[in-house]
Amino acid sequence: MTSTESPNPLRELAPSELREHTASTLARARDRSVALTDAVDDEDLTRQHSKLMSPLVWDLAHIGSQEELWLVRDVGGREPLRPDIDDLYDAFQHPRADRPSLPLLGPAEARAYVREVRSKAFDVLDQAPLEGRKLTEAAFAFGMIAQHEQQHDETMLATHQLRRGEPVLHAPEPPPRRVGGAAPEVVVPAGRFLMGTSVEPWALDNERPAHEVHVDTFVIDTFPVTCGQYVAFLETGGYDEPRWWSEAGWAYRSEHDIAAPRFWRREADGWWRTRFGVHEPVPADEPVVHVSFYEAEAYAAWAGKRLPTEAEWEKAARHDPATGRSLRYPWGDEEPTAEHANLGQRHLRPAVIGAYPAGASPLGVHQLIGDVWEWTSSDFGGYPGFTAFPYREYSEVFFGPGYKVLRGGSFGTDAVAIRGTFRNWDYPIRRQIFSGFRCARDPRPDERA
Ligand SMILES: [Fe+2]
Repeated sequence: MTSTESPNPLRELAPSELREHTASTLARARDRSVALTDAVDDEDLTRQHSKLMSPLVWDLAHIGSQEELWLVRDVGGREPLRPDIDDLYDAFQHPRADRPSLPLLGPAEARAYVREVRSKAFDVLDQAPLEGRKLTEAAFAFGMIAQHEQQHDETMLATHQLRRGEPVLHAPEPPPRRVGGAAPEVVVPAGRFLMGTSVEPWALDNERPAHEVHVDTFVIDTFPVTCGQYVAFLETGGYDEPRWWSEAGWAYRSEHDIAAPRFWRREADGWWRTRFGVHEPVPADEPVVHVSFYEAEAYAAWAGKRLPTEAEWEKAARHDPATGRSLRYPWGDEEPTAEHANLGQRHLRPAVIGAYPAGASPLGVHQLIGDVWEWTSSDFGGYPGFTAFPYREYSEVFFGPGYKVLRGGSFGTDAVAIRGTFRNWDYPIRRQIFSGFRCARDPRPDERA
């Protein structure tokens, strides 16, 4: 069976429809950036809530600065608006911890700047030919900038989680469990599948090109690991037993005296957590979030399992055994809706396991997209035939053993910034991000085909 991947609907759009779709995607990102920055006062916007994060006002102007560089100057060939601030908002020039001491634009200036850039970017979108140049093919540069803004919106959401004080963000509760008795694990038989993409027009360089990969039989959890399962690891001394931890993980756990997921606290009646300013009991059936790679790895070892490789995760998510095709999303090729996955900050928490039966993959694996980013065991690297585009700093400079790949997006990830092939990466110690995991394992002899 030859593996193929699903075609992309963006490629079928007429130029005017593509422009309209692109403009509304950019507008959705801007609405969210505005909501996240209008939710707090100027002092909160300019303050650094954690050394791990930038002040919110830095993220806002940085969003505008990248949009100016790529859409206004590069695609549009227009004069620079603010060449004097390029350096301030170049993430490679200033580590996050130093950003508050820079002469940054203030809240009012930053808001005016991003508005001006956006109005020019919309002009460019109206006029630029969306073909003939790789950067503008199918509006790629605009899609890249919409994803960039949404990624910073997720980062700003993580800053909100680190912020102290009364809750300022509000959203409805996610749906309840809607799946009956699903088996806890799924066996995925050995075979080839097509990993990555060569046809998704807004896919980033590190997702390309599509390539066949053989994956041995493996067993993967149907759902992400829940808080209730994680508590069992905690309460049986999981954080005190070096045997469950890698050497690097144990050193990290010991040095920082880590004893539970970030934002959790032990009280007389059990585990509580703080979530966007709300203090509440840890919900047993919700995927665990705010754990590092090292904690995920230790839990998996304690459970007699391991983390999935990136290829295993993607095969579980995209492979349709009936057709041999790799789907765009676990549920098929349609864009995500509220029925498929918990995305886009529609809710301010992961949904309980079993809440998205319509989002399951053909192999029967649930909640791969949305809820929590899932740590994999894989280092971040380029696929065979990788070409850096549009610049090396997008992904290539991060390739290597220092970063682990996360898949699937979280409740704070917008639909434009996630798909079956999307790859995120971070340091194995990171846990202020919306990171969880699911386990995998090698098959027993009776589970092999
Ligand atoms: Fe950025």
